Amino acid sequence: MDHFIYQNGELHAEGVPLREIAAQVGTPFYCYSQATLTRHYQLFEEALDGLDNTICFAMKSNSNQAVLKLLGDLGAGMDVVSGGEYARAKAAGVPGERIVFSGVGKTREEMAMALTGGIRQFNVESVPELEVLSQVAASLGVTAPITLRVNPDVDAKTHEKISTGKKGDKFGVPIDWASEIYGRAAKLPGIEVVGIDVHIGSQLTDLEPFETAYRKVAKLTKQLRSEGHTIKRLDLGGGLGIPYARSNEAPPLPLDYGAMVKRVVGDLDVEVEIEPGRLISGNAGILVAGVIYVKQGDGTDFLILDAAMNDLIRPAMYGAHHDIVPVVEPAPGVEQSPYDIVGPICESGDTFAKTRSMPPLGPGDLVAFRSAGAYGAVMSSEYNSRPLIPEVLVHEDQFAVIRPRPTYEEMINRDSIPQWL
Ligand code: LLP
Repeated sequence: MDHFIYQNGELHAEGVPLREIAAQVGTPFYCYSQATLTRHYQLFEEALDGLDNTICFAMKSNSNQAVLKLLGDLGAGMDVVSGGEYARAKAAGVPGERIVFSGVGKTREEMAMALTGGIRQFNVESVPELEVLSQVAASLGVTAPITLRVNPDVDAKTHEKISTGKKGDKFGVPIDWASEIYGRAAKLPGIEVVGIDVHIGSQLTDLEPFETAYRKVAKLTKQLRSEGHTIKRLDLGGGLGIPYARSNEAPPLPLDYGAMVKRVVGDLDVEVEIEPGRLISGNAGILVAGVIYVKQGDGTDFLILDAAMNDLIRPAMYGAHHDIVPVVEPAPGVEQSPYDIVGPICESGDTFAKTRSMPPLGPGDLVAFRSAGAYGAVMSSEYNSRPLIPEVLVHEDQFAVIRPRPTYEEMINRDSIPQWL
């Protein structure tokens, strides 16, 4: 469910017509709904009710300060994967004890930053990382709480680029090696084992791979405890998928997910952590773009937008589908025709959709890409020297620009020319 709906013939974000935002900030822009973000966070709270739980928002999906502040104020923790994300989480007011640090390539500097600023735990992904963390913590005279991320060798049945729990993936350590590595961790200075971590992929549309992985983790919990380790916390990762094509997709709901989690690990007497990103932010955001030209093609006609692959790379990178809807509601029964919907960037990969049915549109008309709140703005770039587009947050009948569009000068002035030129 989201709060982008047609009212009085035009698409609104909560109580605000998108046309009004477009008139003020120009197109293209990202627009987020506070009510949807809040609701999606609360769905996980409801789903895990009864368990000792922490919901750490995977801020790689959307790391705008306003979004982090909103979720942090609701009680969310953060799953961070870089020093930059850690700094953003802290800047938004999230306390260190609610921040978990994931990722295969944490540097000494990032470890020291989190150890001095406060951290709930590091999700350690390899033996070399464990050893370096031990050195860094010991040299600072502190103890690093850790889980070991295990790779359960489960097929997440998602896009290969976002599947992370199969044998051979770069993530975690093979689950069969865990016992030996926990044994080593227990002897290292500056390391305190607190639990186990697993994350098998993103945009999962079936609970079965989660359940298979969590059963393996539950078994490992018992084994490690019998070997004398303290396993008080399970980080079960993120990955729950969202419907991208409204017409035909119905991934499991957080409530179903929560029921499964309770069934599988509910009797282990553990704190449960989850790291959802997409399900919280994905359908809480849209990308609004304007039509520049309608170009006749030798076959399908082209709808040329002012948004491009640098603004939303998911279709080019993963072949991802995003519903694209006109901001002015089409009259009932209006004839639709197929368009290739493209951006202005100079490569054919800059295509958002092929032969997509749309009502008649012309230059200046607005369209909205749905489900663009996760992995949208955060993955954008300035390719073709197109400045990053603004982000707007809507709350009931008000809106605020939460990241302005840079001017060309601001973009250019970040470069400098050495004195010898
Ligand atoms: N935890 C870890 C350790 C992760 O690596 C990820 C996502 C998450 C949590 C959050 O997963 P989510 O709940 O959002 O599915 N750029 C891709 C998605 C990459 C996901 C990477 N890891 C896309 O646009 O589809």
